[in-house]
Amino acid sequence: MLPREFDAATRALAADGWCVIENLMTDVQTQALASECTAMHTSRLLMPAATGLDRALTLLRGDSTRWFESRNLSAPQQAFVDRIDALRIALSRRLLLGLVDSESQYAVYPSGAGYARHLDQLHQSDARVVSAVFYLNANWLDVEGGALRLYLADASHRDIYPRAGTLVLFLSAQFEHEVLPATRQRMSIACWMRQRAVPVGH
Ligand code: OGA
Ligand code: MN
Repeated sequence: MLPREFDAATRALAADGWCVIENLMTDVQTQALASECTAMHTSRLLMPAATGLDRALTLLRGDSTRWFESRNLSAPQQAFVDRIDALRIALSRRLLLGLVDSESQYAVYPSGAGYARHLDQLHQSDARVVSAVFYLNANWLDVEGGALRLYLADASHRDIYPRAGTLVLFLSAQFEHEVLPATRQRMSIACWMRQRAVPVGH
């Protein structure tokens, strides 16, 4: 018997290709992740996703990131990975997605920074199947901006605000999306659930 906890999310992902989950982590767990992300950022452990040498890339995305190290997870990170793995396994079994693992990174956008419209695919690889973004920002107000704008197949879009505790899931290959600039710092965990990559051209 599989846990039914993620049934609604599974149905929504199957029907629409995207969904929002509000109960992945407890408030205390979310706050611990936010504190750790803030501390790591203050200690300069996050690095600009676009290097200063590449001005074109800097215009594309203004965040700084740090990967979780799977063999060296902090307690808050372990709690997150445990929950993401439970969700990954539920989605993979119900939707036959073959999701073998996941990768996660902290991302911090300074005030005014965004990430231009893009698709989550790397190096021509199809390993990323489901994109998951978990937000860490307490007391976020919509007027502060910073929405994730998800472009839907019918040319409409949905804006998801980066409030602490919100998790958004979408199929990596199908949804172009962008991060709109905010008037305050914006923190998240970007995560990808992956299948075994099939090399391009085979
Ligand atoms: C990404 C991304 C969205 C967000 O890191 O690829 O699109 O809302 N992040 O932070
Ligand atoms: Mn993305």
